[in-house]
Amino acid sequence: MTTQPTNEAAIQQWNTFPREAMEAMEPDGDFAKRHLINPVLLRMLGDVRGRRLLDAGCGHGYFSRMLAARGAHVTAVEPTDGMLAYARQKEDALGQGIRYVQADLARLPDLGGDFDAVVCSMVLPAVPDWKPAMRACVQALRPGGLLVFSVNHPAFEQLLTTWRTHGAYRLSRYLEEYEIPQTYAPAFHRPISAYLNELSALGCRLRECAEPGLDPGIAQEAQHTTPGIESYVHLPNFLIVAAERG
Ligand SMILES: C[S@@+](CC[C@H](N)C(=O)[O-])C[C@H]1O[C@@H](n2cnc3c(N)ncnc32)[C@H](O)[C@@H]1O
Repeated sequence: MTTQPTNEAAIQQWNTFPREAMEAMEPDGDFAKRHLINPVLLRMLGDVRGRRLLDAGCGHGYFSRMLAARGAHVTAVEPTDGMLAYARQKEDALGQGIRYVQADLARLPDLGGDFDAVVCSMVLPAVPDWKPAMRACVQALRPGGLLVFSVNHPAFEQLLTTWRTHGAYRLSRYLEEYEIPQTYAPAFHRPISAYLNELSALGCRLRECAEPGLDPGIAQEAQHTTPGIESYVHLPNFLIVAAERG
């Protein structure tokens, strides 16, 4: 009998994420975040000055700090002790006014609601019981508020590793849900339709889907240190979605 993964077990695994890895992602995330995810999230969010934003599953908080530096009033939620402690230390040092809350998104306490936008970047694939987490993100929004979320593109989740082996992408299972082992904590695969249909069931209106590709010049510069990086030019490693609360 296989045991169903729980949010608590996944959170414990995320809690093993080492501090050195957090420091290595200062100030604006890793390579993929810098070149593929952040520019799209920021464009979708638009001018955040003076707006109330929720960073749902903020990790070590780099994106919360980027939003606060652009003038947003940021609340950030993170369940792990380690990443939250790091984020709070940064806040103590920088004094950006970010409010941190420790919680599982599937059991989100009342945060005062009415956020203008919620960002949930690379979090939903980390959550076994993800539908209540997505619902909490939507319910935190004011009517017409914007949910922006990113996931590893469900059709190309293991892009770099399979490209390195085959010189092309290979995928043998797409339609079912399954767990993908990763260095610190697993990711959970679901087809794209699962995410988009849940948004629709929550009464959201899709505004945009983005599948960002890497600039060929940046790929060329990085190819010596990251073999297979050209795959990011040809195929999208991330799916980024913006939707409005109805
Ligand atoms: C890949 S990291 C992304 C973190 C951050 N959003 C970023 O882009 O750097 C996944 C994050 O999801 C968080 N997470 C896992 N399960 C969660 C849950 N049930 N509720 C909220 N966050 C969760 C992890 O602790 C981790 O910080």
